[in-house]
Amino acid sequence: MTDLLTLNHVVKKFPVGRKALFSKERKMFTAIDDVSFTLGEKETLGIVGESGSGKSTLARCILGLYPDAEGEILYKGKDVLKADAKELKAIRRDVQMIFQDPYSSLNPQMTAEEIVMEPLRNLGGENIREKARETLSLCGLSKAHFGRFPHEFSGGQRQRIGVARALVVEPTLILADEPTSALDVSIQAQIINLLEELQEERNLSYLFISHDIAVVEHIADRIGVMYRGQLVEINDRDSIMENPRDDYTKKLLSAVPPMDPHCK
Ligand SMILES: Nc1ncnc2c1ncn2[C@@H]1O[C@H](COP(=O)(O)OP(=O)(O)OP(=O)(O)O)[C@@H](O)[C@H]1O
Ligand SMILES: [Mg+2]
Repeated sequence: MTDLLTLNHVVKKFPVGRKALFSKERKMFTAIDDVSFTLGEKETLGIVGESGSGKSTLARCILGLYPDAEGEILYKGKDVLKADAKELKAIRRDVQMIFQDPYSSLNPQMTAEEIVMEPLRNLGGENIREKARETLSLCGLSKAHFGRFPHEFSGGQRQRIGVARALVVEPTLILADEPTSALDVSIQAQIINLLEELQEERNLSYLFISHDIAVVEHIADRIGVMYRGQLVEINDRDSIMENPRDDYTKKLLSAVPPMDPHCK
C-alpha cells in the first residue's frame, strides 16, 4: 500500500483568554500535540477520542486551514503547510469533507441537485447537472429527490446529499468528521455501508472520525486513539479492539455497550 498522507510531529496551538496588558506573551492551548501517522491508498483510518480531544482540529490541519500548525503534513508528497494558494486549491479538491450535521451544512435554499452541482460550478466543465444527478443516484437517491430542498429529506437522506457533494469532484481522500453521529443507529449502518460501497467503486481513502469506537470498528482498517491532542495509540483494528495497549483505549473499550441486545 502506498502512503497517501503522512503527518510528522504535527502541533496546533490556539491562543486562549485575553492578552494581558503590557504582556507580549499569549497563553496557548495545544489542541494537537505531536501527532504522527500515515494513511495508505484505499485505506480507512478511524480516529476515535472523546469530545475536545482534537479530532476536528486534526481534519482542519490536513485541509491546510491552519497555516500556523507546526510539523509536516505530506499529501501525495506535498507539504500542505508549505503549499501555495494554487497547490492548496488542488489539495482541497482532492481531499473532501463530510460533516456531522448534514442539515446545517446544506444550504436550505438550494435543491439537492443544486447543492451537488455547486462544487462543480466552481471548477467549470460541462454537463454538471448530469454529473450531479449521477452522483446523487450513486448515493442512493432517486429522480424524485433531485429537486427537493434539504428540509424535505430525512436525516439519513440528507447525509446522502452530503456524501454526494463530497464525491462529485472525484476526490481521493475523504475526511468524514462524525458523519453518522446525528443519525439513528439503523440509519448509521446504511451510511457506513454506502461509504464502504463507494470506497470499493471509487478507490477512496477515508479518515473516519468518531467519538464512538463501536462505529469506527465497523469501517476502519486501522484505528488511531486521540486523547487530549495526542495520538496515544494507533494499530490495526483487531489489535486495538482485542489487545489495546494504552490505558485510555482500554477505558474507551470498556465503555462500549454490547452490540447484541440479548448479550449480558
Ligand atoms: N478556534 C479555536 N480556538 C481556540 N480553541 C479551539 C479552537 N478550535 C478548537 N479549539 C480547542 O481545541 C480542542 C480540540 O477541539 P476539537 O474541535 O478538535 O475537538 P473534537 O475532538 O473534534 O471534539 P468533538 O468530539 O466535540 O467534536 C478543544 O479543547 C477546543 O476547545
Ligand atoms: Mg469535532
